[in-house]
Formats: sequence, C-alpha cells, structure tokens
Amino acid sequence: MATTTNRTPLYVQPQFHAIPSFYGRSQESVRLEADLHDCRLEGAFPEGLNGTFFGLGPDAQYPTLPDDDIILNGDGHMLSWRIEDGHVDFKSRYVRTERFEAEYAARRRLYNLYRNPVRDDPDAPGLMQRDNTGNTYAWYFNGRLFALREDSHPNEIDPVTLETKEVFDFDGALKSSALSAHGKIDPDTGEWWAFGMYAERRWTGECALIVADKNAKLIREEHFIAPYPGMMHDFAVTKEHVIFDIQPFRVDEERMKRGGQFYAFDPDQPSLWGIMPRDGNVEDIRWFRAPGVVCGHIMNAYTQGKTVVVDAPAAPGNSFPFFKDVDGNPTDIELGNATITRLVFDLAGETDQAKVYPIAGAVGEMPKIDDRFAMQKYKYGFFRGMGGLYRIDWETLEIRNYPMVAPDIMHESTFVPRYDGAAEGDGWLLSVVNHAATNRGSLVVFDAQHIEEGPVARAMIPYSTHMTFHGSFARDV
Ligand SMILES: [Fe+2]
Repeated sequence: MATTTNRTPLYVQPQFHAIPSFYGRSQESVRLEADLHDCRLEGAFPEGLNGTFFGLGPDAQYPTLPDDDIILNGDGHMLSWRIEDGHVDFKSRYVRTERFEAEYAARRRLYNLYRNPVRDDPDAPGLMQRDNTGNTYAWYFNGRLFALREDSHPNEIDPVTLETKEVFDFDGALKSSALSAHGKIDPDTGEWWAFGMYAERRWTGECALIVADKNAKLIREEHFIAPYPGMMHDFAVTKEHVIFDIQPFRVDEERMKRGGQFYAFDPDQPSLWGIMPRDGNVEDIRWFRAPGVVCGHIMNAYTQGKTVVVDAPAAPGNSFPFFKDVDGNPTDIELGNATITRLVFDLAGETDQAKVYPIAGAVGEMPKIDDRFAMQKYKYGFFRGMGGLYRIDWETLEIRNYPMVAPDIMHESTFVPRYDGAAEGDGWLLSVVNHAATNRGSLVVFDAQHIEEGPVARAMIPYSTHMTFHGSFARDV
C-alpha cells in the first residue's frame, strides 16, 4: 500500500441488495450476458421438439435505491434456449432500452423509483419511455420477437441474436403511450389483441383497446376511461367479447409527487370487469363487480350463449405485496395467495355481480394454456402452484402436479404442442428452474399429459438465472 494519507477513494460502488421475487426467494442481479453452445443435458430432449424457448425477466443493471424493493423495476433480460435435434444452445442478453443504454454509459443507476421520476438522478436524460425496461413478456408474434412492458411500447428483439432492434409503435400508428405486456392471439385470425393502461400518462384511468392484424399492422385503437384509476395487468378476450379488468390498486399523482409508490392497494375499491362485444365498441362496455377477488393474470376466457366465463388466479387481498396500502402500510402476504377461480358473468341478467368459483386444491399463479384453444371453451390449464407445476382439467376438475423440491424454484411454464394438429394439451411444458443449492439453472421439459412423472429432460446452465416472468416458444427459430 502507498503511504499517502487522507486519500479520497476514486470510486465507491453502490451495493446491490436482494429484492423479493414472486417465486418465494429474494434475488440479486445476475448481470451476465452469456452464450453456451451445447448445454449439458440430463435425459433426452423429445424428438420433434425443435425451436426456441424465450424467457424474459427483470435483472437490474445497477442497484436501485435501498428502500425500493419492487422487482418489476429491473432491466429486461432475455434468455433463449434453442433446441435442435436434441441439442440445446443457450443465450442471454439484456434488452438494450434507452434507459439501459443511458445507465450503461453513466456506469450507475439514473432512473430510480418504479414509474415515478421524482427521485431520479439529476443527470438522468429525460426520456419519453422512461419506464420502458422491457422486462415482462418475451412475446413471439408471427416471426417477430418483442420484449413487452405494460407502460411502454414493445422493444423488438432479433430472435436469433437477441440484439435489441427499434422500439415498435406499429410503424407510427399507435397513439397509446402504453401497450400491455399481456396480449392474446386469436388462433383463427392470428390477430394480436392488447390494451394500453394509462394510455395517455394522465393517471386518470385512461385505457385503450389495441388490435393488430397477423402482420402487426394496427387495425383498431379505441380509448375509454375506466371507472377509477386502478391496475389492469392482463385482460381476457373470447371469440365474441373483450373483458377489461380493473383491480383495486390506485394511482395517485399527488402521492407520486411526494415520492410515494405508483400503486397503492385500496381494498375499498371494487374489482371491476368491463365486458364489451368484439363487434361493438368501447361505448358498449358493461361493468361487473367480482367481490373478494384481486386478479393479476388471466388463464383463458370464453363466451357461451349469454354467459362469459373467465378463468383466473384470484386472491382475496393484495397479490403484489411490495405495493403498500393507501395508508402506507404493508398488507397481509397470506391474503395475496391466489387460487385458480372461475368467474361467470351473466349478460342476460340484471345483476352486476359475477359468480365466483374458486377451485379447491388449485392454489397458484402464472397460468398458461394450449394457446391454440385461446378465446374458446377449453380443457386444460397449467399454472405454477406452491413449489411446482400444476395442470387443471376443466372438464373433470382433476388436478395433477409435480412438486419442485426446495430450494429448486420453477418459473412460469409454456406449452408446446407435440406436433401440428395434436390434441389439446398433448405436448410439452417448458420452464426455467433455479437450483439454488448448487447455483445452477436449467430449462426443464415435462410431458404435459404426465407432469406428475417429473421432467423428461433438462438442459443445464452453470448459474442460477434471474426470475423470468413470461415466455413463449417459436417453432421457426
Ligand atoms: Fe404478468
């Protein structure tokens, strides 16, 4: 050591802290962009399972504020597993958003609170898409890959190299400043149905219905105001109806100006479900209530005569526990546990109350289906239950599961049909798993008809990845 005294350090790096994830374990950022040719395999990948699985989640490039523990606020980081004739290649890349690039160049965090700029670094460049971390849904749509984020525009990603391309605004046609992270693809028309919540960044509950054709050309955009400024993270579409669900998390600009959180849980507000005929318009929305229901995600929905059925994980309380209530208090974590629930809306009746049927034994979230059966009556739903993978048969209400043994943590699963024309639910479920005890990660493959038998194959990677929220599979990449 030199003998110099009173020396000012050149640089003291802010420290990362672990942030609670949805999957029951806190995570620190990984920050590793990797290429791994020919992953080590356990078991044999099934014949005919060729294509690429994409997973996307938050992985903060730089530490956020010590009092900001919102996992939704991490930088988007895309993972891909390319499967070809039993071999698997792995790749991971950050989504190079404007804010990522600005912080990369500055070598520090500039944009701080979740969807609230009041505590941003004074040197942070002003950005139209300040909140666009591109971290929520790896959305593969007819040959194109997008990193979606509900308050922003899609980030287009090269599906082979994972390089970030342009922010996509439907060739300048999209008026809404937001496009939902959750969309629905009509299996008959190939259309992309979506919405924008806080579509004009006025925080008044302004929403947009957004529909693109199968070539990603915008064909419909209609704006309306929700009954109160709540949260809509996902929505439902049937062949005949669109269902907008407004959940009891209030946005309050005054609270934001005081440095408070963007959302606050407000149990006094109703869970609202606005149902609109697809061949009507937003003037035709009829609002229903679903008492005792807080929903984040939708499994599937269909219309049967004058009845609309929506299946969704529903909790009695705050399912986003990092958001405090409107009085600034933390909420009961137990009340945030969701159960797969059938909501039935009677369009012919006078009541504005949905019938609510929680399914016994189906505690879980992150629902997926065989997407070829979206928007219509269907048989199988898949979800991430307490510690493992679950399948519900809606005809018999039989529930099967495979328990994932702690500390292994399974992420959301994605269904892949065994072949074109296979029966509903006949295929594979792919999921990322973290093996915390060994600090390893893997992509696991289950036979969707026999999940209780455990994975048929694994492709291993030599570290435990960040949490992925939502993924998709591309046959043609
Ligand atoms: Fe989501």
